Amino acid sequence: MATKKRALFIRVLVQARPYWLLLGVIVLLNVLAVSLVLLKPLGLKILIDSGFNHAPLPGFIAGFFPGGIDFRTVVLLSVALVMGIALLENCYKLVIWLLNTVAGEKLVLRFRSNLFDHVQRLSLAHHDNMGTADALYRIQYDAANIKTLLIVNIMPLITSSVTLLAMLAVMFSINATFSLMLLGVIPPLVLLIRKSAAKWKQQWNDVKTSESNAMSVMNEVLGAIRIIKSFGRESIEAERFTDRANEVVDGQMRVARASAWFYFVVGMLFAIVTALFMYVGAYDIHNNRMTLGELTIILAYVAQIYGPIDVITRNISDIQSSLTSIKRAYALFDEPQEFNAAVQHVPCPAVRGRFSLKNVSFAYDPAKTVLSGINLELQPGDRLGIIGSTGSGKSSLLSLLLRFHDPSSGTIQLDGLDIHSIGLSDYRNQFAIVLQEPLLLSTTIAQNIAYGRPEASREEIVKAAKNANAHEFIMNLPAGYDTQVGERGAKLSGGERQRIAIARAFIKNAPILLLDEPTSSLDMHTEQMVIEAIGRLVEGRNTFLVTHRLDTLRLCNIILHLEKGKIVDVIRDPAPSYLEGKKALYTQQLQL
Ligand SMILES: Nc1ncnc2c1ncn2[C@@H]1O[C@H](COP(=O)(O)OP(=O)(O)OP(=O)(O)O)[C@@H](O)[C@H]1O
Ligand SMILES: [Mg+2]
Repeated sequence: MATKKRALFIRVLVQARPYWLLLGVIVLLNVLAVSLVLLKPLGLKILIDSGFNHAPLPGFIAGFFPGGIDFRTVVLLSVALVMGIALLENCYKLVIWLLNTVAGEKLVLRFRSNLFDHVQRLSLAHHDNMGTADALYRIQYDAANIKTLLIVNIMPLITSSVTLLAMLAVMFSINATFSLMLLGVIPPLVLLIRKSAAKWKQQWNDVKTSESNAMSVMNEVLGAIRIIKSFGRESIEAERFTDRANEVVDGQMRVARASAWFYFVVGMLFAIVTALFMYVGAYDIHNNRMTLGELTIILAYVAQIYGPIDVITRNISDIQSSLTSIKRAYALFDEPQEFNAAVQHVPCPAVRGRFSLKNVSFAYDPAKTVLSGINLELQPGDRLGIIGSTGSGKSSLLSLLLRFHDPSSGTIQLDGLDIHSIGLSDYRNQFAIVLQEPLLLSTTIAQNIAYGRPEASREEIVKAAKNANAHEFIMNLPAGYDTQVGERGAKLSGGERQRIAIARAFIKNAPILLLDEPTSSLDMHTEQMVIEAIGRLVEGRNTFLVTHRLDTLRLCNIILHLEKGKIVDVIRDPAPSYLEGKKALYTQQLQL
């Protein structure tokens, strides 16, 4: 095993640590079960040799019948042996099956939960780059391969290897020539396996990539189903999916062709061995060098030995594919979390709201600066309105304040503390946000409102909804506050979702408020209700408000005008004529 693969394997074993004992018990039971497999043909051998050919019983059984044994007892004994061994074997299988399921499911559950927890904490830059489909695939499918590897691949591999060795040993004790002949088959088989394994690994990699590609088309399309429908693109998207899915079929076919050839060669090899043994064995029996019962055992083993060798070869290739998947899952684990461990974090002190941005620049992609040389001083209680053309960097500025991204240069301070020195979740807890497209989770209205403070009482939820002008429409819904809002809140209108989002901000009661075009997709009547609610919300809170609406801008005491990532001007307590001037500049955006 290459060093990298060994390291990955060790990592898997460490991940499985809580279940070591359970896995150990399973290995032990599996190995014990091997002796039953070996004893299986014993009944038949006794029947043939001692029942018909009057040979003495095998030594360990003869001890039970000191006075010899008649035909009737031999028959009964061999039948009882076959039944007893079968009973024991099936009991074993039952217990091993149950233990395998418990161990496998627990392994996957633990691995998946750890991964999911980790993925949520990755930086937004990572999420923007990778998309959700890829992470979903890795958590849902790739992570499950930890069970496949340990339970489905490795366990049978151990059992089969022990079985194979034990069968060879028993055969050797019966007839050395035959065992040596069988041993001769193993080296070409191993070569064949090795050659195929390398090929299969590459082919499996291609299949995984194609599968992930096909999934991402599906995810993208279902996530944007409204747009797809409105543009009538269903057939084209279906074609796009089929194209990608066809690549998966092609890849699977390549793997299948290679595997089919492999098993054809192996199958024929064993047919030749069986024929050879029968031929040589017939003469050996004829010349009294071996009994018929012994040949029966050997032929039974040859027929059975194909099983363990098949399992070993099959699992060696499956281990490749499981390891490839697990590697992809671990690659996600190795993405750094957004939390910067190098910095000493202090708890966030009671926020007063003195923000200070010094020479802040930022770029998502080093080739294109999005914000440059931003200097800004805000006092506690300031309400900053941010205006500027589309793409000027307004939302990016809010992302920096929330630490969704970090500035490429310059510093942001809150009350004199660099915001990077404050514990991340503690820092973000000081914010409530309302976005243009409010995202709701598919639970009830009450749970969505209380998202930032799940312990909030029903009275508090209702109060927040009233403040957000949402109470009335909620009460008109059939289940009121217990109405399910659907995926992403799809069952509510834009204005209703927006007011839920504002209620959510009310209940969080955070000292700093970020609003990004909260009213721009609403009709006039709803907009008035929302603006009124925002007016109540911003009271006494430090506010950053991106908007193009004059009515909303009037809630602010400072106006920041951004263009192409640079500050055009910052005006404190602007005179009405200032806003009028801006309106002339941006008739498109500053709608009245
Ligand atoms: N996640 C991202 N990755 C890369 N580039 C981005 C990302 N988000 C925004 N940009 C780019 O950064 C620039 C500023 O975008 P930003 O969203 O801050 O503009 P905005 O002022 O909020 O515009 P709008 O009024 O349209 O919302 C744009 O050129 C945009 O293409
Ligand atoms: Mg924006």
